[in-house]
Amino acid sequence: MKIGKNIAVEFNDFSKNYTNDMIGCVPHYLQLISSFVNYLPNNFNPQTILDLGSGNGNVTAQLIPYFPKATFTLIDASAEMIDLCRNQFKDYDIVYINKYFKDFLFKNDSYDLIVAGFSLHHCDENEKQFIFNDINNSLKKGGLFSYSDLMISKTNPDHPMLLEKWKTFVNTNFSDEEKWTWLMEHYEAFDKPTDYQIQLEWLKNAGFINIQIHFKEDYWVHIQAEK
Ligand SMILES: C[S@@+](CC[C@H](N)C(=O)[O-])C[C@H]1O[C@@H](n2cnc3c(N)ncnc32)[C@H](O)[C@@H]1O
Repeated sequence: MKIGKNIAVEFNDFSKNYTNDMIGCVPHYLQLISSFVNYLPNNFNPQTILDLGSGNGNVTAQLIPYFPKATFTLIDASAEMIDLCRNQFKDYDIVYINKYFKDFLFKNDSYDLIVAGFSLHHCDENEKQFIFNDINNSLKKGGLFSYSDLMISKTNPDHPMLLEKWKTFVNTNFSDEEKWTWLMEHYEAFDKPTDYQIQLEWLKNAGFINIQIHFKEDYWVHIQAEK
């Protein structure tokens, strides 16, 4: 795969074989995706759910069987990812928004649950802090924000070790080194991960409480926080 000129074009291309590529390229992908339902409180029954960077819908697909009557809002910069969701979720109450996060109006007190699977590492440090504030404002009181992502800064002393383990994982799943080469070009061009410890501080600064790490293997992390 060639590298796209922006996120939207890149993920239009990535959408073709997305889930298989993610399972093969992202350690613990399926566990990190199932974390969106595994760690919800028992009595939690969201009516309004926002999926930030829905991609082909893998996070929403986890939630729908549990909350089939909820109204979902799915936002993604890639039109082709949004189309995959439209085809998959025909029978549900879903609002689709084909926009970048920066162009989305986060309305106050609107959602019970906001989720983001592997999308916020595309935002730089400033954008992440802004979006944590937007997410907090947009949640209803008692609402939850949960997200799964790679959470290590590229300057972290552990980063070279992370890359070595990641490379072994990818090369075990794909017989030639082509996928790893493509992945690292994508990582260089589009990925701006941040240490989870820094993100915990930013979540606190944005007003979140009960911030919990529910899953963590190396720097592959699932965090849940409450408004
Ligand atoms: C790696 S995929 C994750 C998809 C899905 N949530 C999952 O967990 O598998 C990241 C998605 O976020 C979208 N995305 C990344 N940055 C974005 C931004 N700033 N605004 C809107 N969408 C964005 C991409 O288009 C892509 O579909």
